[in-house]
Amino acid sequence: YTDAQGRQRTITANEARDKNKAAGQALGQSVVNKMAKPTLDDAGSTLDPSQLEEAKKQVLALKEQYNITPGLAVIIVGENPASKVYVNNKHRTCEEVGIYSEVISMPADTTKEQLIAKIDELNYRQEIHGILVQLPLPEAIAKEEADILNAIFPLKDVDGFHPVNVGKLMIGQDDGMIPCTPYGCLKMLQSAKINIDGAHAVIVGRSNIVGKPMGQLLLAQNATVTICHSHTHNLKEICRSADILVAAVGRPHFITADMIKPGATVIDVGINRIAPKKLVGDVDFDNAVEVAGAITPVPGGVGLLTIAMLMQNTINAAKLQLAK
Ligand code: GUN
Repeated sequence: YTDAQGRQRTITANEARDKNKAAGQALGQSVVNKMAKPTLDDAGSTLDPSQLEEAKKQVLALKEQYNITPGLAVIIVGENPASKVYVNNKHRTCEEVGIYSEVISMPADTTKEQLIAKIDELNYRQEIHGILVQLPLPEAIAKEEADILNAIFPLKDVDGFHPVNVGKLMIGQDDGMIPCTPYGCLKMLQSAKINIDGAHAVIVGRSNIVGKPMGQLLLAQNATVTICHSHTHNLKEICRSADILVAAVGRPHFITADMIKPGATVIDVGINRIAPKKLVGDVDFDNAVEVAGAITPVPGGVGLLTIAMLMQNTINAAKLQLAK
């Protein structure tokens, strides 16, 4: 990177984290230092309170003005240990922000019909504004995922996975729900004042949860968007032309330093467990940090924002339901 005196310097990962943190504080933005927070366990279970201040304020305002407490129901089916950690984090963050939270645990042999019946019960409960079915579903019902997710009323679909919300995002209607992970990535870029307008944004990964909605969000901000995937020819060259590179492939250290344009902004969405206590991203952080202009670490980067955006979507859902 270039230091204050304009000299080229290379830095260690720890220095880079400190530098990112300092940059975030200098901008007065709480989000950027999340990009640099070094040590958080599995799913980013500790969230800097400042990140959630805005959500807390909105929850209080809803209480004062309308006597409404936003409510989130999270359904977890089966015993996936990572899912349990994520769901606990969501529940804990709700409590911290003042959102009413229910975690509904259903056995691994739950049928599609039983799950949809539970969703429908929640659809009609007034104090529940957001419904989230934690993925992945157990193998026996995984192929029914679309039918299951489509059973959630679009107004309560805080994941933004329902086709109505996907469509709204695509055509630019702003009364839909935006999937939490790409929404968090966008917030991060905006808070860090990274230029998106006219930039070449390259997304590696075309999932419905991250890659595709990320493309739509960046397109709406006037980026030129390229979505790459496992069949892409010349992946390295395309990545190297990115001003903003979003890695969402789910393969440890897939994006190496030689795939990054010097000075580019790199957002790492990957969460890969390579040992019982070791999580790494899709980007080879220690080498990429030498090349990138700004980069998010794993853990401690995007994961934190994802939960914060879920809180925001739950609040937005409560507001939308109030207006109906
Ligand atoms: N599992 C991993 N990411 C997600 C997500 O964004 N939403 C849900 N429901 N499950 C997930």
